[in-house]
Amino acid sequence: MDQLLLIRGGVPLRGRVRVNGSKNASLPIMAATLLTDESTVIEDVPNLLDVSSMIAVLKGLGASVDYRPGQGRLWVTPGSLQQASLPVELAGRMRASFLVLGPLLARRKKVRIPLPGGCAIGSRPVDLHLKGLSALGARFHIEKGLVEGASDGLQGARIYLDFPSVGATENIIMAAALARGTTILENAATEPEIVDLANCLNSMGAQIVGAGTSRIRIEGVPELGGTRHVVIPDRIEAGTLLLAGVITGGSVIVEHVIPDHLKALLAKLAEAGAKVEELGPSTIKASAGERIAAVDLKTMPYPGFPTDLQPQFMSLLALAEGTSVVVETVFENRFRHVEGLNSMGAQIKVEGRQAVIHGRPALTGAPVSATDLRGAAALLLAALAAQGETKLNEVHHLWRGHCGLEERLALLGARIELISEEPERALNMGSHSG
Ligand code: EPZ
Repeated sequence: MDQLLLIRGGVPLRGRVRVNGSKNASLPIMAATLLTDESTVIEDVPNLLDVSSMIAVLKGLGASVDYRPGQGRLWVTPGSLQQASLPVELAGRMRASFLVLGPLLARRKKVRIPLPGGCAIGSRPVDLHLKGLSALGARFHIEKGLVEGASDGLQGARIYLDFPSVGATENIIMAAALARGTTILENAATEPEIVDLANCLNSMGAQIVGAGTSRIRIEGVPELGGTRHVVIPDRIEAGTLLLAGVITGGSVIVEHVIPDHLKALLAKLAEAGAKVEELGPSTIKASAGERIAAVDLKTMPYPGFPTDLQPQFMSLLALAEGTSVVVETVFENRFRHVEGLNSMGAQIKVEGRQAVIHGRPALTGAPVSATDLRGAAALLLAALAAQGETKLNEVHHLWRGHCGLEERLALLGARIELISEEPERALNMGSHSG
């Protein structure tokens, strides 16, 4: 039986909702626990498919891991990391598993992990990771989709990233934390999740200065200890929930957010005519104004407009007054949600990294299929606003990055339920399939 979300749209969402801990802060911090053989406790870790995948990766490396989803609390005790290689079946599922490379290189002389597969939003190479780690003294051999790394002890270095890659910045910081000497990382990614990782590493005894800027200085230390760290709120889930209020013509208050992390989204929402208010240091309200006005959007590395909110904002623009142009500069193929939006009556035309959206007065519910996490969120938002019923298939993509989203949306008034259905193909194949 396939699970899918059944949404009957057209209800303005209203109310308060708490944002979960950040997926993209939790995953690198989970990898960072490997940098010590002591125990680390991480709080407010969201109960996501990607978190489960990373737990499997840590266990596959010999760490003992205990996770209490109800409390959001995760314990990791890596131990001696005897097993410094990762089976393909564990790493293939999720690109973020590549974030264990830096920590393993810092603690083991030899490492073997699979190259992450590409995924729905592009090829997503790891050349910047390998270039940065090589500058620290690691040597790599790649064959048959496996990365074999070796090091006789990492040395600090001056590294300049060709692109401010989030993952490469994270891998390099983690490796440099235990390298001998000083590392200066230039053109580093400045996302809040990098700052959260650096704060966690510093609480373990690392000496990292400048995280959140494009120049990060890391003084290597001989060893790191355990810690207790609370991950930051998920700014992408916060933005998605705020957009749910605006796209349905309602008004949603999100709690447990860091407004500073959402500046680009809030500015774009205001430009489009939504009403945005900071009700407190960790509470934001967004309400629909008159009809949303078309606006142009270009995704950029932080603090620019986040690529992870581009699909969701495009759903809003599908209902805007006028024509909008969206340019996706971070990933080469992040418009796969357009097909589903157009089947709901949107008028969107993709030309390379640019999408032109002719706003429509309304969308109509339809059966659609998700292709990736943020695309799933975009289709869900469109379904909440559409007239009539939408079946969102392949909904497992949504659960990579959101847990309990359908319940929280229902509490805001959404008519949404998780159902199971015989897969179409089985029915069409008739009884001979057995
Ligand atoms: C992180 O992915 C996030 N994932 C992504 O969120 C996010 O979209 C992305 O950063 C950009 O903000 C996690 O944090 C787990 P990158 P990452 O390295 O680290 C190219 C979500 O939905 N590149 O900054 O993989 C790459 O191909 C996910 O939560 C290289 O060319 O992103 C891409 O075009 C999706 N060589 C661009 O840089 C490299 O060595 C950005 O990649 C590395 C990256």
